[in-house]
Amino acid sequence: MKQRVLVASNRGPVTYQFGADGSLAGQRGGGGMIAGVTSGLAALAPETDVTWICAALSDGDRVVAQRNGAGAQDEDGVPVRMLDIPSDTFDRAYNNVANSALWFLHHQLFDTPNQPQFGLAFQQDWESYLAYNGVFADALAEEALPAAARSAEQQQPSGRLRVLIQDYHLCLAPRMLRERLGDAARETGIAHFSHTPWAPPDYYRMLPAEVGRAVLDGMLGADYAGFHCRRWAAAFLDCCADLLGAGVARTGGPEPAVRGLVGWVTYRGRITEVAVQPLGVDAPALRERARAGDVQDHVGALSRAAGGRKLIVRVDRTELSKNIVRGLAAYRELLVTRPQWRGRVVHLAFAYPSRSALAEYRAYTDRVRELARQLTEEFGTADWDPLMLEVKDDYPRSLAACALADVLLVNPIRDGMNLVAQEGPVLSERGCALVLSREAGAAATLAADALLVNPYDITETAEALHRALAMSDGERRRRSAALAATAAADPPARWLSDQLAALGPGTGA
Ligand code: G6P
Repeated sequence: MKQRVLVASNRGPVTYQFGADGSLAGQRGGGGMIAGVTSGLAALAPETDVTWICAALSDGDRVVAQRNGAGAQDEDGVPVRMLDIPSDTFDRAYNNVANSALWFLHHQLFDTPNQPQFGLAFQQDWESYLAYNGVFADALAEEALPAAARSAEQQQPSGRLRVLIQDYHLCLAPRMLRERLGDAARETGIAHFSHTPWAPPDYYRMLPAEVGRAVLDGMLGADYAGFHCRRWAAAFLDCCADLLGAGVARTGGPEPAVRGLVGWVTYRGRITEVAVQPLGVDAPALRERARAGDVQDHVGALSRAAGGRKLIVRVDRTELSKNIVRGLAAYRELLVTRPQWRGRVVHLAFAYPSRSALAEYRAYTDRVRELARQLTEEFGTADWDPLMLEVKDDYPRSLAACALADVLLVNPIRDGMNLVAQEGPVLSERGCALVLSREAGAAATLAADALLVNPYDITETAEALHRALAMSDGERRRRSAALAATAAADPPARWLSDQLAALGPGTGA
């Protein structure tokens, strides 16, 4: 019998747009979290019966949601239930609380002389975040209660429905779901996974006290709280101890755990396991995708544009945490201090748009464009374009750039994991040298074979770019192969099945 699993996330695996003729067409949802969960579920499909609950994001999604989700499913046939949350509530919860407060907090992005400001407007934002999480908890409970009742009837108290709740948008949902389930919570395993970093207590305390406690208490409604690396899990445990006064126990051992249980939190009479579960890539599927004609067309076009020069590649959302501005400054410094690279290297910077509803993101995108313009003006010559900046999402072209890269630059200020740092070496044709921020979660697994940098240190980053460009072919290939093997060792299927296993044996559909 297939195991029943519910997934909940803000962004779903599919989103609907109206075509010119008024018909609705679904397309794949973007982002690393979606890619990981989708790929993990596809691998487990023969054993699981999944429903994915997400917010309706587009007008098309809202129409689908109003039809009560009937007929919605992702590319792999997973049923998707879209929640039509009132748009004002959604905007305040998504833009103001999740993306402006919590995202900035965990990535330590606040310009503290000015931001954050938690005043009257935030109280309304917070009410919306409560309401938004409540809508998810209602939908999850509606799906979960019949399964839990069946499991109890069949007297299989160990067979549990499993619920996987994703990310900082849904921190309150685990506790809210547990409350709605009442006794049926015993038949249900609830996991929450954070795809972001977690702020240390001193920074986390910027949140209004009640809000900070509510977020932690909400997550501790889960049986399992997962993070991509030990640093984030340890910071969460520290926050639970310092802000809630919860009982925190840590697993021992001299070596930092790269995966598995790192501690337990005892709070309100319950235990939540805290674990590290890095999310790598499905290497065979990724390589297969890169062999397709659309990617190969871009490989041809980009190679022609590079004209035999070395390629430094970055692929990101235009996102404040990705540190594109300092990345461009480091490339400029490389060209200033190591003039031997002028005319011999091209920087491909793919920075596709993100969260343009927020003024900070629009301003950041403008800044990136302006810096790119200045750099081209300063160094460009009649036969050499030092930089190609593209602010447009083009997945096949991004795969092609990774396949061709001599150097991959991944320098986030902070990052939960980072997929590009892992996909690049897997896709690389000749082997690529990875310049990687020590503040990316991926640094926990990739440190040995990457060139690690302090993301604030432009001089160090420029020097690492030089070392990467100057690396011998043999060393670059060896390091790249080792990075690819590490990334492939944590495929999404493993990431997902380890979480399901941590929730105990599942119950049938
Ligand atoms: C990235 C992050 C996820 C987050 C997602 C949301 O993928 O790694 O942690 O859930 O962005 O992005 P969105 O575009 O939906 O705001």
